[in-house]
Amino acid sequence: MQVKVTVFKDYDEMSRAAADFVIDLIKANPQGVLGLATGSTPEGTYAEILRRKDELPDLSGLRTVNLDEYLGLAADHPQSYHYFMRKKLFDGLGLKPEQSFFPDGSNADPEAAHAAVIAYEHKLLELGAPFLQILGIGENGHIGFNEPASQFNTRTHVVNLSESTIQANSRFFNSADEVPKQAITMGVLTLMQASRILMLASGEKKAKALKGMIEGLVEPELPASILQMHENVNVFADEAAASLLSK
Ligand code: GLP
Repeated sequence: MQVKVTVFKDYDEMSRAAADFVIDLIKANPQGVLGLATGSTPEGTYAEILRRKDELPDLSGLRTVNLDEYLGLAADHPQSYHYFMRKKLFDGLGLKPEQSFFPDGSNADPEAAHAAVIAYEHKLLELGAPFLQILGIGENGHIGFNEPASQFNTRTHVVNLSESTIQANSRFFNSADEVPKQAITMGVLTLMQASRILMLASGEKKAKALKGMIEGLVEPELPASILQMHENVNVFADEAAASLLSK
């Protein structure tokens, strides 16, 4: 199956359409597992879902899983992905902490991180495949924190963040020095298990990675290219991110 690409005029239009898409799938799967992503790209989608929360069914049976978490940040650190999700979505939806799952990145000690990796992979197996996994894309083509040249056959693991990811994410910290150097991420195999994938891409900076992902070879140098092998992927992009696509 080919990746289905829909291009929107701008970020707001893309975010509204993405919220529509997610709300419909939550309505069809209120007891299911929803896979979420962080980063600035899905923020508009989350805000729109919150604006339309009256349309949502009872969410007490929904479970959420997140792709990744920095290693060495406590869950209540303002730059942790736990904290981001709570502020941008979970509190507004009234989700209880026990409904949402993340890799535990709070202890960077290698043994503790290894235990967190195993625990998260087990939790994901126990929960079963998400009915939808939302993804962003890194400027270098990463998905989750699966950086270029990572293997495709990976499950949850610890990664060393690439210099370009550290630089790209430093905008959320006081300086690049404060960005953790490692993270725990779902592996490529893990995230490919979702029944559907919705990738969001906005802005000129994503255009090259998006073109490679959709029109290039499937290769570990561009981790997102593996999505060509998934049978149910939608890409929602704004015109700037889609500007290099050939049609
Ligand atoms: C981060 C996250 C990814 C995210 C990507 C793009 O490093 N680990 O899950 O998709 O980079 O982020 P943004 O949407 O802010 O451009």
